[in-house]
Amino acid sequence: MLETPEAMISPPLPTVWPRFRQPLRLGVMASGAGTNLAAIAQSIQSGQLHAQIQVVVYNNPQAGVAVRSTRLGLPTVLLNHRDYASREALDGDIVQALQAHDVDWVIMAGWLRCVTSVLIDAFPQRILNIHPSLLPSFPGLKAVEQALAAGVTLSGCTVHHVELAVDSGPVVMQAAVPVQMQDTAVTLQARIQTQEHRIYPAAIALAAMGG
Ligand code: GRF
Repeated sequence: MLETPEAMISPPLPTVWPRFRQPLRLGVMASGAGTNLAAIAQSIQSGQLHAQIQVVVYNNPQAGVAVRSTRLGLPTVLLNHRDYASREALDGDIVQALQAHDVDWVIMAGWLRCVTSVLIDAFPQRILNIHPSLLPSFPGLKAVEQALAAGVTLSGCTVHHVELAVDSGPVVMQAAVPVQMQDTAVTLQARIQTQEHRIYPAAIALAAMGG
């Protein structure tokens, strides 16, 4: 069967997913709609990703992720950044919430705040992020708009380990999508998000295997 160009530039998912000694204990941090949270939860429910979501932390009272998380029956904690005098103070409370829920992998799924060494040092090598570009191209905010403005013909998404510099850190997995002439930020974002939902669960499994 002929593969579509999209299929050829997006990594195949595992045919056999790894089982760990115990399910991975995930703490998800999100600021937005929570579609990546839903994709990860779906992968767990279907028996692919051997994990459980211990807690969802979100920072924006209006974020749709709260509704999704509550519907999924997950412990859901609001830590509003506006209530904090510093990023470090916010991260201190995030660490407390994650530790209180016995989290061993931190999954940033659309967390739109810079994080500090308070968080990074509490979970060394165990924090992942997803970014809507092929890093190292287009780090930071409005990555999809940046890609369109640059006129690239390929973009995509990257799951990477989190380090202090924004959107840096070793890459775990990437998927690419074509950029089409008529694309807007909305259409390109939607194409990228389809790949985000595919690769994030697989990237979590890969990272947990040391990949
Ligand atoms: C994703 O596109 C991700 O790449 C970016 O934020 C978005 C979150 O989307 N960091 P959602 O909240 O998971 O729907």
